[in-house]
Amino acid sequence: MHRQDADATVTRITGGTPRPPFSRFTFPGHPFPLKLEDFIAKRLSIGRRAARARLLAGEVTVAGESTGDARREVTRFDEVTVSGEILQPSLPRLYLMLHKPADILSATTDPLHRTVLDLIDHPHKSSLHLAGRLDRASTGLLLLSNDGLWSGALTLPGRKVEKSYLVETDRPIPPEAVARFAEGFPFPSEGIVTLPARLEILAPERARVILHEGRYHQIKRMFHRLDGIRLRSLHRERIGPLRLPDDLPPGHWRPLDAAELAYFAELPRIPSEVADPRN
Ligand code: URA
Repeated sequence: MHRQDADATVTRITGGTPRPPFSRFTFPGHPFPLKLEDFIAKRLSIGRRAARARLLAGEVTVAGESTGDARREVTRFDEVTVSGEILQPSLPRLYLMLHKPADILSATTDPLHRTVLDLIDHPHKSSLHLAGRLDRASTGLLLLSNDGLWSGALTLPGRKVEKSYLVETDRPIPPEAVARFAEGFPFPSEGIVTLPARLEILAPERARVILHEGRYHQIKRMFHRLDGIRLRSLHRERIGPLRLPDDLPPGHWRPLDAAELAYFAELPRIPSEVADPRN
């Protein structure tokens, strides 16, 4: 199971060894990022020395510019040509928001169920991945991108991007739940305690939960610790400063606009050596 958002490196109980959520090791064999000489060698099935010769001969362009820099990094977004032949077409960077309806999987493919990608009609949709997930029954704001550095900066557990959820429960929420959420819940089998979370009780069976992490079924499991309270619904209304717009109906998506992208520009980029190599 892919748990880029649900995984955690923080171990407040055991102090166990953190592991990088993204690494070349996690995604073995994925091509990016690649040095230009390796990219050319691979695509033309030639040796690295022969690739360097093509570079030295001035046959190579990256993003429309001639280059002889063998060590230049190539991403999936760059057009690369050799002697006028396009080895890789350019790919636009995509940053989309989706209003996820219930009963749709937060995945890009699934043999049985409809996925969020089935809701997106875009010529480059196959390049997208999810920047965080919601359970199948959950609704609300979901971000998708083909820029792994961007989504990594949003979803790495250490980044603590705030997320806000509205929940409805099957029973009244006890007032002491507020302190329990703030203290954190131990999950000994995972060797963790959840980070302090804010619970605002809005009505006996309705609350807002604000988290700084995104573990597997986290909110469900936290409520369940309160005498087995179950959720009737869970809706994500906000990620960082980005709210799900009122005019985006369930099942609909749109690109983030420049102002929305600027919200996230402040997030430090993850170093490329721990970046999601789908980049
Ligand atoms: N916590 C959950 O339990 N489910 C979600 O979909 C999101 C957070």
